[in-house]
Amino acid sequence: NPIQPPVLDKCGVATNLNTGQLLDINCCPPTSDKIIDYKLPPVFSMKTRPSAHRVSPEYIFKYNMAIDRMKRLPKDDPRSFMQQANIHCAYCNGAYDQPGQGTLDLQVHNSWLFFPFHRWYLYFYERILGKLIGDPTFALPFWNWDNPKGMTIPPMYVDPKAAIYDPKRNQDHLPPNVIDLGMTGNTDPLQVVSNNLTIMYSEMIRANSSALDFMGQPYKEGTPVNPGPGASERGSHTAVHVWVGDPREKSGENLGNFYSAGRDPLFYCHHGNVDRMWTLWQYFLPSSKVPDKKITDPDFLNAAFSFYDENAQLVRVTVKDSLDNLKMGYDYERIDLPWLDYRP
Ligand code: C2O
Repeated sequence: NPIQPPVLDKCGVATNLNTGQLLDINCCPPTSDKIIDYKLPPVFSMKTRPSAHRVSPEYIFKYNMAIDRMKRLPKDDPRSFMQQANIHCAYCNGAYDQPGQGTLDLQVHNSWLFFPFHRWYLYFYERILGKLIGDPTFALPFWNWDNPKGMTIPPMYVDPKAAIYDPKRNQDHLPPNVIDLGMTGNTDPLQVVSNNLTIMYSEMIRANSSALDFMGQPYKEGTPVNPGPGASERGSHTAVHVWVGDPREKSGENLGNFYSAGRDPLFYCHHGNVDRMWTLWQYFLPSSKVPDKKITDPDFLNAAFSFYDENAQLVRVTVKDSLDNLKMGYDYERIDLPWLDYRP
């Protein structure tokens, strides 16, 4: 059977997975007596998520205003900044059990739920931000770390006065330091860039001979946590988390730890690119090695999560409704993919 949304009033104590210790923060969302099945609204105009390195001052202003308003919402509003950050903690740090499976934890990482879960997470986050500034066309930016022009933390995030700033980041990895997707420790920027492109080629193309190699391993009702990540989740995705996390903190906060990752606005920008990798893989890559990219297992398609939407209504969403970003009303700015030519 497919994974079902957690029972919100059975949310419990979460664990810091970097240390194995119980967390002393409560990351459970407010409960609601009503959950509705979410229907994707008709798409009247496509939102375009921009590359975070290329956005205009007007965009940066609007984005900061939206995050600022999110931070000012009442603490118990499920759309508030911390409640949104805690979604990641609740779904990823063992606060929820799988419904009907005793104390078996619910964990969306390291499995085929990774891409769909984070897509829905960003989807509602983006709609909430749009609602807060009265602009339903607002689109989240993506951190274009797969392109040499985007291989530093996007500059708008390092302005200490900005709402999207977070002081808990590795201070040795601020711009102009180049992201090291291979976690090689190499300090020659040119070598790091070229190694990054090789890694991208490998994760997106070479490493995958089946859809599951890219998406992650099956995770169904009763499956123990962490059946196995796909190439992109395991590689560049994790590397960016670890690279940004602050070594001065106890355990990699914010981006370098599941429970705190959503507290850094850069998280949603990073995951914009992770999500973009999924769309590129689905629709734009040569597919000779993986002729069939669709997973047809009903236990995948019917897996479900719950989120609060932009109106603070609790909704139930399914994996099958997340498979096509265009149906969800957004697309990505087109940027070239230099790694396509980086066969090792
Ligand atoms: Cu839910 Cu990048 O992790």
